[in-house]
Amino acid sequence: MVVTSTNKLESEASNNSTYDRTAEVKAFDDTKLGVKGLLDSGVTKIPRMFHHAKLDLNEATKSDSKLSVPIIDLQDINTNSSLHAEVVDKIRSACKKWGFFQVINHGIGVEVLDEMICGIRRFNEQDDEVRKTFYSRDSNKKVRYFSNVNPFRGKGANWRDTISFFLSPDPPNPEEIPVVCRDIVIEYSKKIRALGYTIFELFSEALGINPSYLNELDSADGQFILCHYYPACPEPELTLGTSKHTDSDFMTILLQDQMGGLQVLHENQWVDVHPVHGSLVVNIGDFLHLVTNGVFVSAYHRVLARHIGPRISIASFFVNTSPQGTSKVIGPIKELLSEENPAMFRDTTVKDVMAHYFDEKGLDGNTPLQPFRL
Ligand code: OGA
Ligand code: NI
Repeated sequence: MVVTSTNKLESEASNNSTYDRTAEVKAFDDTKLGVKGLLDSGVTKIPRMFHHAKLDLNEATKSDSKLSVPIIDLQDINTNSSLHAEVVDKIRSACKKWGFFQVINHGIGVEVLDEMICGIRRFNEQDDEVRKTFYSRDSNKKVRYFSNVNPFRGKGANWRDTISFFLSPDPPNPEEIPVVCRDIVIEYSKKIRALGYTIFELFSEALGINPSYLNELDSADGQFILCHYYPACPEPELTLGTSKHTDSDFMTILLQDQMGGLQVLHENQWVDVHPVHGSLVVNIGDFLHLVTNGVFVSAYHRVLARHIGPRISIASFFVNTSPQGTSKVIGPIKELLSEENPAMFRDTTVKDVMAHYFDEKGLDGNTPLQPFRL
């Protein structure tokens, strides 16, 4: 039962000498109810497995409220060529300086975005017994509910639950998608894929290469989405919603609700990515950093844990995770290289880079591109 195992978690967390992290994580994972289950059972202290090292929590906490992530308006860019050129310039600048920007008037109706957030809320807030049936540690499953990618590794776990969908190139049967969010997950992901196509085209233009270049990269032609649910946290100063990381993809399009908490590391300061209703956050992933030879940057970001919640966000990752996609050779785009701009990375594959991302030790704050630098 949830209550019993939670009490066990609490008592283990408070007794240093007998602390057995693996047992604590296993008891938590066996509940199959995630962090939300802990909160529902009434915890007022967070189990020790969620504690982060002070160093990780306090690093670069200086934040500058004068800085803000660029907001780019995509209205009329297909009918007005001077506006189009202006937007391409803004995108180039945002991708070079921030690796992050928000888009507004992107063509996806706000009712679709709101319903997607509601659908994920319905999934997490439905009957425990139904939610539990989706909980799994099998990362090959196309639809999977879990809390933390690998809570068993030694680092502090995140105060967050997730349901993931591998949607392209090899989608699940619709019946595999929980009925409470099935229709909207299908509709939302289709619309995000179309927007992704448009943004890759704008990126190619911003780089001065053939507009279809990035869309024709087999290893970028895939989509999976992580739908996060960050419950309110009783001790937010001890943990994080999502640890500092870069994204292991070409590009991410993120939908966040109005709660806030997402931050991007910019010039060594954490800058809030303020929620803008109807907008989508776009960020550069490690593979675009690599193929642009560092012209576009994949920036560190994180999500704070907060007393308020739940916070819901949906991250759509553009990368082809099929065996064909991950084994294609990728490297700095030749057109971007010259004597003054020699290749900064060696050729590799998505598979080889990801091996560093998901290895046992975790990244320990290093980007997974580090081993591929020349
Ligand atoms: C991610 C991520 C941010 C958020 O899933 O990679 O950075 O706001 N999510 O949940
Ligand atoms: Ni991320």
